[in-house]
Amino acid sequence: MEYKFCGNSGLQLPIISLGLWHNFGNEDSFDEATQMICSAFDSGITHFDLANNYGPPPGSAEVNFGKIFSSQLKSHRDEIIVSSKAGHLMWNGPYGDGSSRKSLMASIDQSLKRTGLEYFDIFYSHRYDEKTPLEETMQALVDIVKQGKALYAGISKYPKEQALTAYQYLKEQHVPCLIYQGKYNLLERTPEQEIFPLNEQQGVGFISFSPLAQGILTNRYLNGIPNDSRVAKGGFLTADQITPEIVGKMNQLNQIAAARNQILAEMALAWVLNKPNVTSVIVGTSSVKQLQDNLKTLNNTTFTNDELIGIDTILCNH
Ligand SMILES: NC(=O)c1ccc[n+]([C@@H]2O[C@H](COP(=O)([O-])OP(=O)(O)OC[C@H]3O[C@@H](n4cnc5c(N)ncnc54)[C@H](OP(=O)(O)O)[C@@H]3O)[C@@H](O)[C@H]2O)c1
Repeated sequence: MEYKFCGNSGLQLPIISLGLWHNFGNEDSFDEATQMICSAFDSGITHFDLANNYGPPPGSAEVNFGKIFSSQLKSHRDEIIVSSKAGHLMWNGPYGDGSSRKSLMASIDQSLKRTGLEYFDIFYSHRYDEKTPLEETMQALVDIVKQGKALYAGISKYPKEQALTAYQYLKEQHVPCLIYQGKYNLLERTPEQEIFPLNEQQGVGFISFSPLAQGILTNRYLNGIPNDSRVAKGGFLTADQITPEIVGKMNQLNQIAAARNQILAEMALAWVLNKPNVTSVIVGTSSVKQLQDNLKTLNNTTFTNDELIGIDTILCNH
């Protein structure tokens, strides 16, 4: 594993992190979840990414992570970075959604209880909430860090202007923003325009979520929709996104990957990791095999100009 400093901070993150949005809830195999987490840690993945609402049902990924952590990894607490988040709908009523001080403070206490951890390493505001003053959300993050419930603060999916205000507020309060978590992959390149330059200027790290576009950028859907896939299970990734056009492009990308001696997932992760602005990618996996395949990315994260032009030509109309 390689580790990279996160922005201007002293914290290094593994360039491949593991996310628990899917595949770690109560409807998933606890044994596979245990093996994925242990195998990840054994391979140098020291960073596990959670949120209050991961499951299903919401909260169960934190509960399951807590069980696995306490039975397998407790003695390694100081070698592990665990993040969680609050900001999306989690419980009923006016305080279970959004980014008020009340929501964030209640949510982190619930998340600590569910995981059994004494603190999170990183705590995020999961999204910008235009109904709450930004200063209120940021001051809650500052106080969470000052109370020792988290070591670092981060933000996710904030528009550029609000991200800048957040960075400035946090800096003034001496709790500089560690990291921005945003969607970035071969099919979603928006952060290049606004967030990458801003983060560079402000010394904030960037971690990419859904680096495989939830599985589109893998061999999963090259020949139809498998029964055990994320699309088949139902969720945010739906069958109408697996268009013939996308499948055609993925098959073409797969040929470039094969010429690099990589599977499509490896090449897609390598492409993200090749960007100097990216600190780490958070992969989601449904099996140890996928995880181990993704780790092979580390063998080659560089590209020739011809490969990059070939990839962009295939994706130019996307
Ligand atoms: N901040 C936010 O708002 C936000 C939003 C989304 C995600 N996240 C974070 O980012 C993490 C990753 O997101 P994601 O799960 O969408 O990531 P992803 O890595 O883009 O997609 C994961 C899915 O891709 C497929 N896959 C992975 N490796 C594969 C391989 N080697 N071969 C074939 N298929 C493979 C699997 O699909 P199957 O399940 O079909 O096998 C897996 O479930 C989340 O767990 C979460 O921590 C954060």
